[in-house]
Amino acid sequence: MFQPPLPPHYMRMGSDETAERIARARSALGDRLVILGHHYQRDEIIRWADYRGDSLKLSQLAAAETRAELFVFCGVHFMAESADILTRDDQVVVLPNMSAGCSLADMAKLSDVQTAWDAIGSAVGTARTVPITYVNSAANLKAFVGKHGGACCTSTNARKVLDWALAAGDKAFFFPDQHLGRNTAVAMGLDPDDDMVLWDPALPMGGTTPEVLRKARIILWKGHCSVHQRFTVDQIARARAEHPNVRVIVHPECALEVVMAADLYGSTEYIITQVRNAEPGSVWAVGTEVNLVNRLQTEMPDRTVFCLDPIVCPCSTMYRIHPRYLAWALESLVEGRIVNRVRVPDDVKADARISLNRMLEIT
Ligand code: 13P
Repeated sequence: MFQPPLPPHYMRMGSDETAERIARARSALGDRLVILGHHYQRDEIIRWADYRGDSLKLSQLAAAETRAELFVFCGVHFMAESADILTRDDQVVVLPNMSAGCSLADMAKLSDVQTAWDAIGSAVGTARTVPITYVNSAANLKAFVGKHGGACCTSTNARKVLDWALAAGDKAFFFPDQHLGRNTAVAMGLDPDDDMVLWDPALPMGGTTPEVLRKARIILWKGHCSVHQRFTVDQIARARAEHPNVRVIVHPECALEVVMAADLYGSTEYIITQVRNAEPGSVWAVGTEVNLVNRLQTEMPDRTVFCLDPIVCPCSTMYRIHPRYLAWALESLVEGRIVNRVRVPDDVKADARISLNRMLEIT
């Protein structure tokens, strides 16, 4: 998405002035406004959030919030789209910087998914194939899934949604994150080689054959998160060598071997809960975005919390929500101008809502 440059005076504002202006605009908007903040946002943003959460929690909060008329979503584009889908038409969702996308979501385009679906249909039929999209996907893919009897999932509820899918059909077609799909299916007792096949959209017939597709229970899209792909088994071995009592906890967007080598894995909310509920003095190596990891350490100084990857790995698109963009979005709203509204077209919204609501029901 294209984000035009901010008016020049915003670019000259220092951090104190920016914070003062955010505070003033936020209090002027009062109860009309809710600021939602994903856990990967930097501290200078998360401090303004009325609610913090992982992607499931933020979707649920947006769906339940009937009073506010303005949602400023400090997260990435697909999250703001989900909020728009789940809120009423007279509620407005604003993303402070439109270029805050998600490279994982961009790895599955509707046209490529449709091509794959048609090819799977010709090879083995799709009558008993249930499409599942991770919420890290564009609204038109959520609509595709809604139209074809499937559901969305997040990293918190992927297990429940895949259980549901395999009870409703014979196969699940899971996109765009291969790792979340594979890790979840392995936890369900499926074999990563015998029961799963990787669909590579860059290759003819996805790089597979009708025979392999026929046998597979889960068809995984070849997509990944570039932040979580950086974590390795070697890093875990090093953390264990340097800190004999360390507990290693990673996000399920990490590769299977990393999840297997860790002690625990789960969504951002799960990671926070585990560290928070641990005893003082405990040592944690965390495989997820570094803003969240550093915040855990700041908020819980009596534990040792560090990022598994010694070379810092921020999510560059989450980072695009800079406080100056937040100040600009809020001050525009105070002046009665809605900037950066994220609006899913009505025809897409109806089907996308089906897949999100199905997920919320299953959860
Ligand atoms: P959570 O659902 O754990 O918040 O993850 C969202 C995400 O985008 C991870 O990369």
